[in-house]
Amino acid sequence: MDLPREFFIEDRLEKYRNTSLCNLGESGIRNFVLKDLLISLDCSIEELLNIDLKDSPNMGRWDLREEISGLYSGISPENILITTGTSEALFLLFSYCIKPGTKFTYLSPGFQGLYEIPEYLGGQGRGVEFQTSPEWRELFRDSNFVILNHPHNPTGLSIQEEDWIVLKSEILKFPGVVLFDEHYRFLDLESEIGVSGARLNHNCYATGSITKSFGVTGLRIGWIVGDVDVLNHLRSFKDYLTHTVNPISEFLALHILRNRSKLLPGIKNRIRANLKTFSDSAPHLNSLKKIQLPTSGLLFFPELNEGISSERYADELYKNCSVFVLPGSNFEKEGFIRIGLGEEESRFRLGIQRWVEWENSSNRFK
Ligand SMILES: Cc1ncc(COP(=O)(O)O)c(C=O)c1O
Repeated sequence: MDLPREFFIEDRLEKYRNTSLCNLGESGIRNFVLKDLLISLDCSIEELLNIDLKDSPNMGRWDLREEISGLYSGISPENILITTGTSEALFLLFSYCIKPGTKFTYLSPGFQGLYEIPEYLGGQGRGVEFQTSPEWRELFRDSNFVILNHPHNPTGLSIQEEDWIVLKSEILKFPGVVLFDEHYRFLDLESEIGVSGARLNHNCYATGSITKSFGVTGLRIGWIVGDVDVLNHLRSFKDYLTHTVNPISEFLALHILRNRSKLLPGIKNRIRANLKTFSDSAPHLNSLKKIQLPTSGLLFFPELNEGISSERYADELYKNCSVFVLPGSNFEKEGFIRIGLGEEESRFRLGIQRWVEWENSSNRFK
């Protein structure tokens, strides 16, 4: 069995995330330092120092599972399994459901982990183009496993009210499994929290995370919501992999979730401010042809003018402006770039200002 292909976004992220003045390549809020996080959580250093460094329960701390279950309707803590990042949750569910020859469908372009791992396990994938009005029914045709990521990485598109009606009726008829990857669910800009597909039907699963939305990627805490019996199988497989999560991360994740209504307004205001900075400057970014801004999450995927190589453009933008974006080629979709809105506002403004100046100088991209 060959290993999965390389994870295309990782090389650039490793190279540029710490060296760029303005990091728009990241898919999360710029990370906070522990001290600032503890202050905003009203958590004393004493509490942190008293954390017992034992193994956590294999399913995850009960109080954390309780807190997470409150984010969904009709879900109890037994329906939650805590994992090391969402990546582990996805790997566990894919390993359980995907056998050689399993047909799976996903939104394309997509986060590579969502199709690369099922392919690696022998599944046969078919991408369904995610546009402004997607063909939802197409996802359910000739498929045993449907993977839906919303708000969507990399396009920033999300499921609208009218889409849910179609999706629900398809799901009720669908004999296979449906997975909702809801990594950016906390970042709905129009309501407190985005709608979840968890448990729309007994065949639905959802994954969730705090890491990108709250600027704490290093904590590596994710979860999966689903059927209790299946979760017990996944937990048993997890016992061979990471076994339990880090108790310090789990403690902080619990406090972050308990304080989410205090933390999220500032985070969303940052995204709104960056969105405004970008849209005010967009008319001067001459290489961008079509821009659809997100209403939830913090990512979007503008189209470049005809014939521009996304890698060359990303390289030149970094070289000339120290602004880091990911090329569409990293998502196997040429002619686009992915932009994240999680950067600090002052760095974001400065980056966009440099970008506009470069685009309008004699040294601009040719
Ligand atoms: C849509 C989506 N799913 C899953 C992941 C992986 O998440 P984690 O870093 O929690 O493993 C990411 C990370 O960016 C993502 O964007």
